[in-house]
Amino acid sequence: MNIAIIGYGKMGREVEKAAKSRGINVASTIDPTESSASHREISEESMRNADVCIDFTAPNAVLGNIQKISKFKKNVVVGTTGWDGSINEARSIVKKSGIGLVYASNFSIGVNIFFRIVENAAKMMNKLDDYDVYGYELHHSKKIDSPSGTAKTIGDILVKNIRRKSKLLFAMAEGKISPNELHFASIRAGSIPGTHVVGFDSSADTIELKHEARSREGFAAGALMAAQWIKGKKGFYTIDNMMESIIGGRQDV
Ligand SMILES: NC(=O)c1ccc[n+]([C@@H]2O[C@H](COP(=O)([O-])OP(=O)(O)OC[C@H]3O[C@@H](n4cnc5c(N)ncnc54)[C@H](OP(=O)(O)O)[C@@H]3O)[C@@H](O)[C@H]2O)c1
Repeated sequence: MNIAIIGYGKMGREVEKAAKSRGINVASTIDPTESSASHREISEESMRNADVCIDFTAPNAVLGNIQKISKFKKNVVVGTTGWDGSINEARSIVKKSGIGLVYASNFSIGVNIFFRIVENAAKMMNKLDDYDVYGYELHHSKKIDSPSGTAKTIGDILVKNIRRKSKLLFAMAEGKISPNELHFASIRAGSIPGTHVVGFDSSADTIELKHEARSREGFAAGALMAAQWIKGKKGFYTIDNMMESIIGGRQDV
């Protein structure tokens, strides 16, 4: 497989490293400002030898990139986060052009297993009113979006499965929170690649579930797995679809 890497920043370089170690050919690296990238823009020339594109750029760049990629009929893996408001537009570009796209706010396979563990825990906690629910996430100080896309996904899983929690509070709590609010805090510091914690707290004890990325390696490995998976497919997919095909559907708790 030949890939084009769009966005030659921290993740783009990590994907390149992971691709080389797996014998996957990097046909081009595209970045408007990184002088070591092979190309400045998505063009006939930079797309020519690519089977699948992998985008790790910036929230305001994603939609334009998908539009350009679709003109060259290339499938794409989108790892960039913070563009949720444009997802429907992306869906319609994908449908109209007949390309394949897979998106994940977090391509780490471990995190996606974590999502399922959180979902099962939430289903159990739905039946146990004594436990309050909270979350927090930590990322490096250069991260652009806050809360992380992963935190939003975890928050959505919790409110979907715990009836007494109907509102996510990502901002600082101003005074007392309401019983239906679920507080999910974001901390930005140093070089932390990404830590997400979900807690259940009763008067007797606390249960915490934690996923801690050790490096960006897991994101890159998952994105490459997604590139293999999306090759030859048409339509808009999320990593949930990919996980289902790898580990099967959800189990009832
Ligand atoms: N889904 C996941 O598993 C996962 C994991 C980690 C990170 N992420 C997300 O991936 C994104 C990138 O993260 P990062 O740490 O690699 O950021 P980064 O180091 O800032 O790299 C992003 C690179 O993309 C470039 N870029 C911006 N617009 C572009 C465009 N239209 N075409 C090509 N390149 C463009 C940027 O150039 P400039 O500096 O000139 O803007 C920068 O060099 C973020 O949204 C982050 O949250 C996702």
